[in-house]
Amino acid sequence: MNYSSEWENIYQRNEQLSIWPWSDLVSYVMRYSKPVAEKFKVLELGCGAGANIPFFQHLKVDYYAIEGSTSIVNHLHNKYPSLSTKIKTGDFTQEFPFDVSFDLIFDRASITHNNTDTIRNCISLIYSHLKQGNIFIGIDWFSTSHSEFKNGIITDDENTKSHFINGQFNNVGQVHFSDKLHLVKLFEKFEFIKMEHKIVAQEFPKADYNFASYNFAVKKI
Ligand SMILES: C[S@@+](CC[C@H](N)C(=O)[O-])C[C@H]1O[C@@H](n2cnc3c(N)ncnc32)[C@H](O)[C@@H]1O
Repeated sequence: MNYSSEWENIYQRNEQLSIWPWSDLVSYVMRYSKPVAEKFKVLELGCGAGANIPFFQHLKVDYYAIEGSTSIVNHLHNKYPSLSTKIKTGDFTQEFPFDVSFDLIFDRASITHNNTDTIRNCISLIYSHLKQGNIFIGIDWFSTSHSEFKNGIITDDENTKSHFINGQFNNVGQVHFSDKLHLVKLFEKFEFIKMEHKIVAQEFPKADYNFASYNFAVKKI
């Protein structure tokens, strides 16, 4: 199992409990996927505390998720009893526990917490569980332009680091950093519809510090 158990500890400490949908994700879904009907099947990889669930409930589509943390999945089953068979605990780099072809698959800052080999495996699973002509959306895949890329310790491959002693990635286990070419190679079986490199330069409390990540939409061809 590749899943970083640090996430289980984070949720047990009641940290990272984001509950409002991420605006970049909302924009990408409405621009590139347009889910409308109740039959429209959406899979989220790494739903965390369920920040994006209210958005898909509002759209009245058929929402599924795979999440590695048992305690946050139990929390979501209590909060959304109607989704108790649709949100499953598991490692999405190893298996998708649904015999379903999806109209949309997406992640926000989840796949990017795995190493390159297991990300490749996850992308093969995405390919086989996505309907032909449909879209995968990746939001906030961390970039090698992120200031934290120079910190931490290389783990399984040169794009994957861990053991950050402070900052955004302290205690989160593996963090994978991409550049454009790396993403293009990882998704070579897909067509890129859109890719954006988001670089946010901080001025306070500390200047010369960048948050940097990629957002993208790719089509199964
Ligand atoms: C930064 S949080 C993002 C949560 C949510 N997507 C959001 O945007 O609010 C990363 C999540 O991915 C999950 N995750 C990372 N790797 C995973 C894996 N291989 N299998 C299942 N879940 C994983 C973690 O447990 C964690 O909940």
